[in-house]
Order: sequence, then C-alpha cells, then structure tokens
Amino acid sequence: MVTRLTGDESVLWQAAAHVLDANWTGAATVPSPGLYPHQWSWDSAFISIGLARHRLNRAEQELLTLFRGQWANGLLPHIVFNDSVARRAYFPGPDLWRSSKHHDAPRNVDTSALTHPPLHALAALRLYASATDAERGKAFLGRIYPALVAQHHYFARARDIGGAGLVAICHPWESGLDDSPAWDRSLAELQLPPAEYAARSAPPSLTAGADHDRYVWLVTTYRDAGYRDEHLRDVHPFAVEDPLVNATYLASTHALAELAAIVGADPVPHRERAQRIHEALVTRLWDGETACFRALDLRAGRLVPVATVATFGPLLDPQLPEPAMRGLVDLLLSARFAGAAGYPMPTCDIQSAAFDRGAFWRGPTWVSTNWLLWLGAMGHGLTVVADLLYGSTLRLVRQSGFREYFDPFDGTGRGSHDYSWSAALVLDLLATRRAPQRAA
Ligand code: GLC
Repeated sequence: MVTRLTGDESVLWQAAAHVLDANWTGAATVPSPGLYPHQWSWDSAFISIGLARHRLNRAEQELLTLFRGQWANGLLPHIVFNDSVARRAYFPGPDLWRSSKHHDAPRNVDTSALTHPPLHALAALRLYASATDAERGKAFLGRIYPALVAQHHYFARARDIGGAGLVAICHPWESGLDDSPAWDRSLAELQLPPAEYAARSAPPSLTAGADHDRYVWLVTTYRDAGYRDEHLRDVHPFAVEDPLVNATYLASTHALAELAAIVGADPVPHRERAQRIHEALVTRLWDGETACFRALDLRAGRLVPVATVATFGPLLDPQLPEPAMRGLVDLLLSARFAGAAGYPMPTCDIQSAAFDRGAFWRGPTWVSTNWLLWLGAMGHGLTVVADLLYGSTLRLVRQSGFREYFDPFDGTGRGSHDYSWSAALVLDLLATRRAPQRAA
C-alpha cells in the first residue's frame, strides 16, 4: 500500500531527499535500487539538478563520476557500469558492448557505446547558479567545461548525419524515450538477418516483445562495425533526428556559451552553433500541416507520423517562433494530450492507435518529460502550461510516490519505486517556489 504524501511541502521535500540519499553509492546515484544498478547519463543530469538543491557537493560529484566514462572521441556513454555490480545483473551489460576492446573507450571503466540526450551543460550551469561560493563554483566548471565541449564536438562531428546541424540518434535508447511509438515504423522496416539475437531469458530490465531483437541487433551491428562514425553516417539502418533530443542539445549549447563566458573561454562558437541548431530544428522538424514538431527518419526521408511528448521539446528553444509556440500550446492543452488526462503529460497522443496508458513511454506520464516541458514553458512565460505541469507532477508523487512513471488518467504509479529523477526533479520544482532546505 502506498502512503500518500499529503503533508505540507517540507514533508514532500524530506521524502524526496531521502530517496536521493538512499540511492547514493558514494560516488554517484543509481536511477533506482535493484532495477537500474549502474549510472545512466541523462538520469545523472536530472539527478544533479535536484541534488544541487539538496547536497551541492554530491551534485558536482555525480557529473564528474559520469564523465569518467567519456570516450577519447568525446562520446559520453548512456550507461557507465559499476564494476562492483555482478556483470550479469543488468542487460544490456558490459558483455554486450565490449567497450574495453575499443581504443577510444576509457581503460578503467566499462561503458555502453550509445549516448543520451545531452542535458549536461544545462545541468552544470544550474549547479553553478546554485553555488553560494562563486570561486568554488568556478573551480567545478573549470574541471567539467572541457569535457562538455568534447561531448558537444562529438555530436557535431559524428552525429550530424543529416548535415544541417542537428544530431541523429542511431538507436531508440539514445532518445531516453526507449519504447516510444515514434520509433515503431523505423524499427519495423529494419531487415533483420534470420538469426536469433535476443538474450536467452528476457531480462526484467527490458520490456519484452518483438522490438527486443531489433534493439540488440542495432547494437551488435554497430559494435561489429567497430563503433565507427563512418558506419553510422553511411550504413547504419537507424538514424533519426528527434525534436526532444535536439531541443536538449540546443538548450545545452546555449548553456555552454554561458559557461564559456564564466570560465574565460570564447562563447562565440557555441552561440553560432546554437543558431544553426535552432534554424535546422524549426525548418526540418516542424510539420506545418499538423502544426507540430516530429522526428525525421533520415533513412526513410520522412517525418514520423505519430505525435509524442517529444513534439513539445522545442519549447526549450528560446527563439521558438510565436506561431509554432501557439501551435504547440494548443496541441498540449487539447484532448490529444493534457486536455483529456487527469495527470498530464501523457507521453503519446491519446488519440493515436499506438497510445497505451500503461506501457513504457507509450502513454504514461514521466517526471523528467514534465520537468523539461515545465522548464520550456517557464522560459517563454507560459504560466498556464507551467503551472499545469508543476501541479500535475506534485500530485502524482504525493498520490503514488516517486515511481518511474504513472498512468496519465488516474495517476497510478508504475515501474520501479524510489526512482531517483522523480525525486530529484521534485526537489528542483519545490525549490523554485520557496527557499531550499539544503542539507549541511
Ligand atoms: C529506462 C528509461 C531511460 C533511463 C533508464 C535509467 O531505460 O527509458 O530513459 O535513462 O531507464 O533510468
């Protein structure tokens, strides 16, 4: 039975802080106890944003520990493995990726070879803003800034497969929205060889189903091509420009420009890149016919048909043109999304055939996507949308606890319990409305 968190905000704050304290390993935070025993890249960005409100030193350590997994070519892997956890405890584990065989991978830690939405520069800027001691904040930035630049260079060099300034993901896992219906068509069109790629027993950490073979095959194909950039550019069968991934890339590029100015580096190249990303985002991924953003499948040369929560990612673009913003707000408030859900934001268009209120990223509400849209709405002064997301997110965790995801109609909690980013982002939300209660 779930104990509802109906006490005032300090009770909610203590409960969220307790989750983060319990999931701290000594160097970083696991996304949830049991189910996700390693370090995940975009989780750590979200977690550090919340930790900055609670224990700033841990927030800094969270990011620095994550960057221990960065490859020499700048790739920041989506999973950095903890070698004190049994190798078979999680699938896809180190034995699938074999990172240690790649000359660019770090020698002292196993990692995946895919990446995640690049929220880290944005997170680092928020950590700096939370620092009460500016010198100390600067010292942290001095350490992390070169790694963030390398991460962004990797995206610009290896992932601008479409050649217009956006980044392409080469696997659904890179989006962070793993099972989103946005990938259905591209996955269905993959020509798999007649071999069995699935692990013998379907691991509990992966949603079982027909897509499992495809996920693993995409990894082994890339791995067997030596994780080469040329393979991704010319051969790899999955290459998609996603609006949410690119919106985080844009927001972090703006943050990099600000960080550059703080550490005494040149902000201009970052500003120029941000301009290019913005232009490509609003020209390539905007679907004028339906007035929303959609992912672009580069291999098929078409926009994906389904509208998902990623459609609203470009709210993070400070230069989003007014008509596009109005179109997004109308859609967000309509019965296809928040208008027909008691606990927005559903992660898929409710009226789409692919919508499923209980399935991983195919309908349920997640705290991370709520927080990203809330941040975008705040940036544009869209207070109705921002307040809707703020209120919905707090009601969800009050009712069901810090769960991984939630039924968008009745708020039932699903997936793992004590999920770190659900707790972390609640701390950040609470702290924006009142003085934070940082621990000593
Ligand atoms: C799931 C989510 C992904 C997250 C990971 C660890 O795979 O889809 O976004 O990073 O769990 O929490």
